Amino acid sequence: MANPFPRMLTKIDDLSIVHIEELCRTAFEFKQNAGAPIQFLNPPRFMTCLFLENSTRTKLSFERAAHSIGLTPIQFNPSTSSLNKGEELEETLFTLSQQGIEICIIRSSENEYWKHFSKDLKIKVINGGDGTNEHPSQALLDLMTLMECTENLEGKSLTIFGDSAHSRVAHSLVKLLRMIGLQIKLCGPLELVDMELISDNVIHTDNFDEGLESDFLYFLRVQGERLSVDQAEQSFQMMNNYGLSLERYEKLFHRPPVLHPGPVNLGVEIHKDFLRKKFKHPAGQMIHRQVENSIYMRMAILSAMLHRG
Ligand code: CP
Repeated sequence: MANPFPRMLTKIDDLSIVHIEELCRTAFEFKQNAGAPIQFLNPPRFMTCLFLENSTRTKLSFERAAHSIGLTPIQFNPSTSSLNKGEELEETLFTLSQQGIEICIIRSSENEYWKHFSKDLKIKVINGGDGTNEHPSQALLDLMTLMECTENLEGKSLTIFGDSAHSRVAHSLVKLLRMIGLQIKLCGPLELVDMELISDNVIHTDNFDEGLESDFLYFLRVQGERLSVDQAEQSFQMMNNYGLSLERYEKLFHRPPVLHPGPVNLGVEIHKDFLRKKFKHPAGQMIHRQVENSIYMRMAILSAMLHRG
């Protein structure tokens, strides 16, 4: 790579288009060679996931990806760690670094938790999601999944439905897809749309049918955990008019691929049948493919970090 891979991958803007192309190329290579024997690194190298918020997909796929490239995952449980005795996150990272852990994936409810980290910190950091701000590895695996759907993404359109205001996934995805040249619609009630994302190739519509006209449909979860009980109830009510039923999908002439970062509020954003075997339009359901691709994209990210030295 012309520019070295960043030591801290906290947001999409940390990456150049060359990094992104290289990550996608490597991720597809890993996918092609899935099942190849694992070459454990000797001497061993270590990573850990420091997750201060719940996760199934991100945490396990990073651990699985690490294992697949011969990197040893070390379990870290914040609730039984000294973070729970008041140790600062940065001090914990210095400690992990001294213990020989090279890469730490962090998830936190605090936006830009890394902002005041010392320059002396040696451990490499990957942002596994910070508050409402960014989730770069999710956007990258989504890009990989979109690339599997069509040969050339440039000029294609994608609608993001739902609560982009509180969605770190939407923030990373919009930045990334703009770099690739997609036309993006944010579809939902004005109250739930982040109008700061609007630009020359990002528009807003509150019309669900207009949102459905795109080449790809990307549904977001109502971020209940970031809202008060009243706000969450209002959001769920507002989203009632923006959920995709099976019947509505089947009326679409073009039956576009449907993506969702998960976890899905079944029956809110999309009908449960989209995620079940009986779903009749497999080319339209990319949600399980996103989970599958998360392993390969995260293998590519971890490899790039390892080679960063
Ligand atoms: N998409 C995503 O970040 O899922 P998890 O919260 O399960 O990691």
